[in-house]
Amino acid sequence: MPASIDTVYVCICNGVTDHQIREAAANGCNSVAELTMRTGCGSNCGSCLDMASDLLSQARAVHDFPLPLLGLASAA
Ligand code: FES
Repeated sequence: MPASIDTVYVCICNGVTDHQIREAAANGCNSVAELTMRTGCGSNCGSCLDMASDLLSQARAVHDFPLPLLGLASAA
């Protein structure tokens, strides 16, 4: 399936997008090693691993804390 206009390719070697990384996180992916097993991201040159790790961490944080805590914290 072609990527949409707001898609960013994180792993050029394997054609893995930011959407695929967020989807993997939403489906329980907890580590870059697991992300690599699921998507192939980082399995070739490895230059994408830092960005993939950052995206995975961000996506996991949103998944683990779905409530708008920052909005509540700033109101206090
Ligand atoms: S860009 Fe991801 S393995 Fe090369």
